[in-house]
Amino acid sequence: MSNYVPGEGRGENGLVLVGEAPGAHEDRIGRPFVGPSGDLLDEFLAEAGIHRSEVYITNVVKYQPPMNDIKKIGMMGLSLEECEKELWTEINAIKPNCILALGNTALKAVSGKDGIQKWRGSVILGKDAKTKVIGTIHPAALLHGEGEGSGGAMNFSARVYIQHDFKRAVSLGRFFEFYQGHQTLSVDIEVIRAIPVCIGLAFHPNHGVSVPLLDVFSLQNKTGIV
Ligand code: URA
Repeated sequence: MSNYVPGEGRGENGLVLVGEAPGAHEDRIGRPFVGPSGDLLDEFLAEAGIHRSEVYITNVVKYQPPMNDIKKIGMMGLSLEECEKELWTEINAIKPNCILALGNTALKAVSGKDGIQKWRGSVILGKDAKTKVIGTIHPAALLHGEGEGSGGAMNFSARVYIQHDFKRAVSLGRFFEFYQGHQTLSVDIEVIRAIPVCIGLAFHPNHGVSVPLLDVFSLQNKTGIV
């Protein structure tokens, strides 16, 4: 049997990253994502403006599977069902603002959704019907050139998707960390000649978001108004 590799990192209301299972490096060192996939993970986190010490990193399965094949965990007397239960005990203790699921195994374990290519990048709900989840292609797909990311030009687009999804998860996590406990929301709707063109939302006097409802320039071109 391989070694138990526990989750590690910052707890309580942060960002949780969930991978599939430890590989040989993780098994030897006893920490998640410390091999070549870990180097990529650190790179994507840095590009998203966060360090791995600021997030919690774990895996669905806590032991390196035989031949690195998750379908073979039965040979170690484990089942995905049990592993998911343990994962959710971990998640419930942390109460993350956002979970970034790395690859389809993690996506399925945390959200019940199947198909990373279809669901990646979208904000979806966890199996507990309250935790926000973003899925992305597993960074290891860039190393193997097969499966989720799939080699060559696909590798390039997979890298761009992963960068995008990491940034999205980090900013979503930060947004909820920052605004947690804020009770008041100010809303401002901008209109031009009674046509709503933009809606502004703010939880704080110095921060807000503006959501355009209309492309004002094409409205102007098409109608001459504005
Ligand atoms: N290392 C891990 O800890 N998890 C993975 O999913 C891949 C590599």
